[in-house]
Amino acid sequence: MIEEIFIINKDSVYIKTIKKSPLTLRLVVLVIAAVCGMYICLISLEQPKVRTSTKLLELRVVNQSCHHPSAVEDWEIPYLHYPQPKNYSREECACNPVRFFSILTMQRSGSGWFETLLNSHINISSNGEIFSVAKRRENVSSILNTMDKVFNLDWFNSASKNECTAAVGFKWMLNQGLMEHHKEIVEYFERRRVSVVFLFRRNSLRRMVSVLANSYDKEAKPINGTHKSHTHSSIEAEILAKYKPWINTTLLIPELKKTEETASKAIEYFKNTRHNVLYYEDLDKNLTKLKEVQEFLRVPYRDLHSRQVKIHTAKLSEQIENWDEVQKCLQGTSYHSFLLSD
Ligand SMILES: *[C@@H]1O[C@H](CO)[C@@H](O)[C@H](O)[C@H]1NC(C)=O
Ligand SMILES: *[C@@H]1O[C@H](CO)[C@@H](O)[C@H](O)[C@H]1NC(C)=O
Ligand SMILES: *[C@@H]1O[C@H](CO)[C@@H](O)[C@H](O)[C@H]1NC(C)=O
Ligand SMILES: *[C@@H]1O[C@H](CO)[C@@H](O)[C@H](O)[C@H]1NC(C)=O
Ligand SMILES: *[C@@H]1O[C@H](CO)[C@@H](O)[C@H](O)[C@H]1NC(C)=O
Ligand SMILES: *[C@@H]1O[C@H](CO)[C@@H](O)[C@H](O)[C@H]1NC(C)=O
Ligand SMILES: *[C@@H]1O[C@H](CO)[C@@H](O)[C@H](O)[C@H]1NC(C)=O
Repeated sequence: MIEEIFIINKDSVYIKTIKKSPLTLRLVVLVIAAVCGMYICLISLEQPKVRTSTKLLELRVVNQSCHHPSAVEDWEIPYLHYPQPKNYSREECACNPVRFFSILTMQRSGSGWFETLLNSHINISSNGEIFSVAKRRENVSSILNTMDKVFNLDWFNSASKNECTAAVGFKWMLNQGLMEHHKEIVEYFERRRVSVVFLFRRNSLRRMVSVLANSYDKEAKPINGTHKSHTHSSIEAEILAKYKPWINTTLLIPELKKTEETASKAIEYFKNTRHNVLYYEDLDKNLTKLKEVQEFLRVPYRDLHSRQVKIHTAKLSEQIENWDEVQKCLQGTSYHSFLLSD
C-alpha cells in the first residue's frame, strides 16, 4: 500500500516538498492512515460476503440431499422451491417441493369461494387477499418483501397447513397496486417462477350487481348489523339477495368496457409468465374444471369442497331494480348476451 503511494507520486514535485515542510509530512501521514483505514474497512466488508457464500453452500447441501420427485418433468424443475422458513423448521417436509402461485382477479369474481376450494386441498395454502392492507402495497419494495414472506412460508394465517405444502400463494385484486407496479411484479414472477391464475367473470353485469349489493350491505348490514361479503348459510344468502340495486345506465356501458379492458390489459402484462385464465362461470357450472386447476398447480388431484353458499342465484331480471332500462341500454350492443345468461 505504502509503496503504491510513493510510486504514484514518484515524479511529482510533491515528494520533494515533503522534506521541506512538516505540515505536508503530517498530511502524508494522514493520507497513509486514511488508506490503511480504507483497507481495514475493505477487509471487514469482505466478511459478510464470506458468510453469504457459506450460507449458499449450506443451501446447496440442502438441495443436494433432496431429490426431485420422479414424476417431475424437466421443464418443471425451475418451478420447484425448497423454502426454509425463518421461524420454524419444515422438518419432514423439507424435501417436498413447493410451487408458487398468485390468483389475479377482481372484487366479486368468486375468488373467495375459489380460495376456500383450494384450501380444502391438504397441500395447498392460499393466503387470501394480502394486499388489501394498503401499507403492504405502499411501494414496490414493500410489495416484494411481502411476497418473499409468503413464498418463504413465513406467513401465518388460517390457510397455513400442518401438512406438507406443495403449492403456496395468495389472491390479488387488480386494483391493489398490481397494475401500477406491473413491471416489477412481472419481473419478480418470472425470476421466482410464480404461476399466475387469472380468475374473471364472463358476465360482468352480474359482477356489477354483486359489487353494488355488497357495497349496500356494507352500509345497511341487514344481517344482525354485521357486514357479510360471503356466507355459509342459505338463510343469510336469501337475505343478502333481497336487495335489488338500481343501475345508472349512463355509466353502465363505460363501466362494463372498463372492466373488460382492465382484464385484458392484465393478461397482456403477464403474458410471459406461466399462466392460466379461468372464468367463474365455468367453475360454477362444472366443478371438474378444478381438475385442470390442480393440474396447472401440479398438485396431486383431490376432490375440493367449499361451504360457501352462492348469494345471487335468481335470474338477472329479478335482481336489478331498473331492469327494463338496463335491458334497453344493452340491447344490440356487444354486452347484449349478459342479459340472457343466467
Ligand atoms: C437450491 O436452493 C436455492 C435457494 O433456495 C434455489 O434458489 C435453487 O433454485 C435450488 N436449486 C435447485 C436445483 O432446486
Ligand atoms: C416502502 O414502504 C414501507 C412501509 O410499508 C416503508 O417502511 C419504506 O420506507 C418504503 N420504502 C421506500 C423506498 O419508499
Ligand atoms: C419470527 O420471530 C420473530 C422473533 O420472535 C418475530 O419478530 C417475527 O415477526 C417472526 N416472523 C414471523 C413471520 O412470524
Ligand atoms: C401432501 O401432504 C401430505 C401430508 O403432509 C404429504 O405426505 C404429501 O407428501 C404432500 N404432497 C405433496 C405433493 O407435497
Ligand atoms: C341474528 O339474530 C337472531 C335473533 O337474535 C339469531 O337467531 C340469528 O342466529 C342471528 N344471526 C346471525 C347471523 O348472527
Ligand atoms: C348517473 O351518472 C351520471 C354520470 O356520472 C350522473 O351525471 C347522473 O347524475 C347519475 N344519475 C343518477 C340518478 O345518479
Ligand atoms: C365438465 O368438464 C369436464 C372437463 O373439464 C368435461 O369432461 C365434462 O364433460 C364436463 N361436464 C359437464 C356436465 O359439462
